[in-house]
Amino acid sequence: MKHLLSTADLSRAEAIHILDVAEEMAEVNSREVRKLPALRGKTVVNLFFEDSTRTRISFEAAAKRLSADVLNFAAKGSSVSKGESLKDTVQTLGAMGIDGIVMRHGASGAPRVLADADWIDVPVVNAGDGTHEHPTQALLDAFTMRRRLHGDASRGRALDGVRVLIVGDVLHSRVARSNAWLLRTLGASVTFAAPPTLLPATSAPFGAAVHHDLDVALAEDPDVVMTLRIQQERMNDAFFPNPREYTRHWGLTASRFARLDERTLIMHPGPMNRGLEIAGVAADDPRSTVVEQVENGVSVRMAVLYLALTGDQQKETVA
Ligand code: NCD
Repeated sequence: MKHLLSTADLSRAEAIHILDVAEEMAEVNSREVRKLPALRGKTVVNLFFEDSTRTRISFEAAAKRLSADVLNFAAKGSSVSKGESLKDTVQTLGAMGIDGIVMRHGASGAPRVLADADWIDVPVVNAGDGTHEHPTQALLDAFTMRRRLHGDASRGRALDGVRVLIVGDVLHSRVARSNAWLLRTLGASVTFAAPPTLLPATSAPFGAAVHHDLDVALAEDPDVVMTLRIQQERMNDAFFPNPREYTRHWGLTASRFARLDERTLIMHPGPMNRGLEIAGVAADDPRSTVVEQVENGVSVRMAVLYLALTGDQQKETVA
């Protein structure tokens, strides 16, 4: 793996390998000294043109636990606000000597532009590009499902037959898109439940089935219910009448949550709008993996950085 730009680029074997390496990293993260020398002497730049809390800190923690040096670049407060182009920004950083770029950008496809351009020749990891993709989020979601569903027998396994319901703002969600590709590659089935205004205008978006009634979708007893954040910052129009109406039809409310099977997993990529797309009682229940997702994110990003920066595809053991 040179770059990680899209989960659609991953084969089943590659995806399972990343998750298996992430298991090794999780083992390191459970030790008293959470550190490996694997990327000592390497420099990773976090190039963030869009706001982020958990993803940026998670990548920073991941790189540091592999002993890499980390440079954090936020477009706010940089020369980007003086109009400097992506090319000039990247060439400036490249002149300082860097070995990998983690990029978040508001424009879909920006990490691909960087990976394909000859401005700099280092691995690029997509940390979220516009409404397009967020591959490490999908990998950490798959890792979390695999651990919850297969426990200690997770290594080497996929998610065959697992039924995942993704609810809410699919239209603006790079998380939904990356998950749809990856989950299908791993053998899971994906259904979206969303109002027509918050779905792409195709019959089977990203290969997923669609329900326009959340209660009908929940009655099918999915193994996983993943709620998505309403992405108000990407909405320049009225996509639903008002927040109360949205919650009534599309929220994982306390009463919908109470009707779920006791083994159903509840997921959310964060940040959550509590009370809007998900009730506090659902988010805080032991069936919810919200905090585990964040914890697993560090292990998964360690695996991705390790594989991308060392160019290692085969090695099974990292510790
Ligand atoms: C997601 C994102 O930024 O795409 N958040 C995250 O990385 N955990 C989802 C979101 O913002 O709703």
